[in-house]
Amino acid sequence: MLRKPNEPCWASTMSSPKLKAYPGSHITVTFDAGRCLHFAECVRGLPQVFNVAARPWITPDNADAAALAEVVERCPSGALQYTRHDNVAETPPDPTIVTTAEGGPILLHGRLTLTGPGRQPHRENRMALCACARSAKRPFCDNACRA
Ligand code: SF4
Ligand code: FES
Repeated sequence: MLRKPNEPCWASTMSSPKLKAYPGSHITVTFDAGRCLHFAECVRGLPQVFNVAARPWITPDNADAAALAEVVERCPSGALQYTRHDNVAETPPDPTIVTTAEGGPILLHGRLTLTGPGRQPHRENRMALCACARSAKRPFCDNACRA
């Protein structure tokens, strides 16, 4: 079944054992540690919410839902996703933006559907796909390119 772009990741057939949900009063943030590429957009954008020294490390109620959604949308890998409880969905850029880096992942930002042999179509707005074939989590980059 095709997942709607704003549907929580845990409903997806691609849900990862490293996926964790952080529910707040107005927004729920999910984090897939297996897809985090440590760009640090989250900790730079809202350090009062994303604090790697705290447990839990994500505290959604420490910011306004719209401000938090805006920072989650800066996560280029798609490791961070959100579901706003008022059903305001992420609006991806159109046309899709494709960013390449020498020896690194291909970053996609748009209305994406990932599919392939034996794979259920999976919708998302942000993805970092492995371009070097060294990732253990293909099709996603796992930073093996930086090792
Ligand atoms: S912005 Fe996304 S990829 Fe970057 S550190 Fe945060 S969760 Fe990881
Ligand atoms: S591009 Fe990063 S692991 Fe392949």
